[in-house]
Amino acid sequence: MEHDSQSNENVIEVHNLVKKFDDHLVLDDVSVSAKKGQTTVIIGPSGCGKTVLMKHMIVLERPTSGEVYFRGSRIDNLVENQLVDIRTQYGFLFQGGALFDSLNVYENIIFAIRQHRKIMDWKQIDELVKDHLSMVGMDGYQEYYPANLSGGQKKRVALARAMAMDPYVILYDEPTTGLDPIRSDIINELILKLQRELKVTSVVVTHDMNSAYKIGDRIIMLYDGKIIADGDADHIRNHSHPVVQQFIHGRLSEEDLEALRHGGTKLKMQ
Ligand SMILES: Nc1ncnc2c1ncn2[C@@H]1O[C@H](COP(=O)(O)OP(=O)(O)OP(=O)(O)O)[C@@H](O)[C@H]1O
Ligand SMILES: [Mg+2]
Repeated sequence: MEHDSQSNENVIEVHNLVKKFDDHLVLDDVSVSAKKGQTTVIIGPSGCGKTVLMKHMIVLERPTSGEVYFRGSRIDNLVENQLVDIRTQYGFLFQGGALFDSLNVYENIIFAIRQHRKIMDWKQIDELVKDHLSMVGMDGYQEYYPANLSGGQKKRVALARAMAMDPYVILYDEPTTGLDPIRSDIINELILKLQRELKVTSVVVTHDMNSAYKIGDRIIMLYDGKIIADGDADHIRNHSHPVVQQFIHGRLSEEDLEALRHGGTKLKMQ
């Protein structure tokens, strides 16, 4: 992977994205970009539209209005078979892992490689699988089926699978959710390692502020369909917006506390 970290290229750009599902406005004029060689983190409360935003970056959702660009070319208006080529340049780890349960670890990884490369030399492929599994500390698990792996092991295999495709950018949706703190930190360290050593460009959706601070070159907070904060870890830590402070400290607002105490269930910060 010869990605140039000096470049200021925006690998992904989202311009003025509006997304409605029927009359439910989920994203309201959102513009974000992911710079080459950097890790861009998206945070925000559950249901605020993080996954929907990330799906637009690989055109698994189409904008109601607005535009999405990959490496300078508009992609949100491409037809499905043009998108197939574009998507081979992405690695993605969607919420819930998404290994194929009927395939073992080895087969899961070669499945990804086979999507865009004809395999000629199986010995070389065995080495490639071994190298990528070693990178995530999972060499030796080639014959295991996902059902016999822990949540953290599955995420590590999914990461190895994404890397095996030699992607230009990796999208991660909640890579640490459901993992204990040590396993979460292993994932954080892997994401950092990929960025430092291979200059991989990443976009990461997370609830986990420790993870956001650790891996994010840039952190973007979504709330009520809009971006309310955008900057590095210090910028977010010191942000004056009360919703940002509540979110990063895991606190409910006075208004929400009142609602809870009085038996209400309709919270603003869900
Ligand atoms: N295909 C869909 N059809 C209708 N509504 C949808 C669809 N996908 C998402 N939504 C709605 O869009 C909103 C944002 O969903 P999204 O999955 O992006 O939230 P999120 O920020 O990723 O939340 P979480 O942190 O819980 O994963 C939710 O209200 C959800 O119900
Ligand atoms: Mg989500």
